[in-house]
Amino acid sequence: MATISCWSAKGGSGTTVVAIALATMRGREPESGGSLLVDLAGDCPSALGLPEPSGPGVSEWLTAGGEVPPDALRRLEIEVSPDISLLSLGRTAMEGVASPDRVQQLLEQLALDPRDTIFDLGRVTTGAGLIMEPLARLAAGADQSLLVTRACFLSLRRALASPVRPTGIVLVTEEGRALGRREVEDILGVPVIAEVPLDSSVARAVDAGTLGMRMPRGLERSLRHAA
Ligand SMILES: Nc1ncnc2c1ncn2[C@@H]1O[C@H](COP(=O)(O)OP(=O)(O)OP(=O)(O)O)[C@@H](O)[C@H]1O
Ligand SMILES: [Mg+2]
Repeated sequence: MATISCWSAKGGSGTTVVAIALATMRGREPESGGSLLVDLAGDCPSALGLPEPSGPGVSEWLTAGGEVPPDALRRLEIEVSPDISLLSLGRTAMEGVASPDRVQQLLEQLALDPRDTIFDLGRVTTGAGLIMEPLARLAAGADQSLLVTRACFLSLRRALASPVRPTGIVLVTEEGRALGRREVEDILGVPVIAEVPLDSSVARAVDAGTLGMRMPRGLERSLRHAA
């Protein structure tokens, strides 16, 4: 089914929040069979209130050679709730994932899955502006490629410099910003498909690890056109 990548150009944009919210909303759909959340940034277990996974994760699958079969992916899943299964990051740094073929295999394997897959890719560039090749491939290769960004010029500048062109923007908004939806669309040349206001109930849910269980209403409302 559909693959959706959520990524950012600057840390702390709200990517993990948006990815978990979309996975919850997609996974709750009747007949969906739940959704698969693939964490390539490492914060999903905490935000979902889970203990840090100790076993191998998707980074080990990506660095393994062809002797690890594609369907081994399924055995790495952690059931979070009836709505969401999680493929956690594991312990291998994404910088060590060199094989573009293996990244492509991951995309192909997940495209065959009857469930929708939502990737939390985190930042696809380093602070120094260097591209994280495997993450950029996943960001570009998903059916929907969502840049999560604040309406902040520094974030937009980095997004503009990124070689990945998103299919849509999820704009995390706050009072008093000079840049609004129109300016962001003009600067990046990509449509804003959802505006997510900063809301203290969202921050509290992340801190308490309850985002997957009790999603704040406002967050769900603001993402309904993106999900
Ligand atoms: N809509 C929101 N309202 C209020 N707080 C938010 C919202 N979205 C995110 N936050 C807060 O901002 C912080 C960063 O959010 P999040 O972890 O989702 O960003 P990120 O882009 O995944 O960061 P990283 O680059 O570290 O992976 C979190 O502490 C979270 O509580
Ligand atoms: Mg994150």
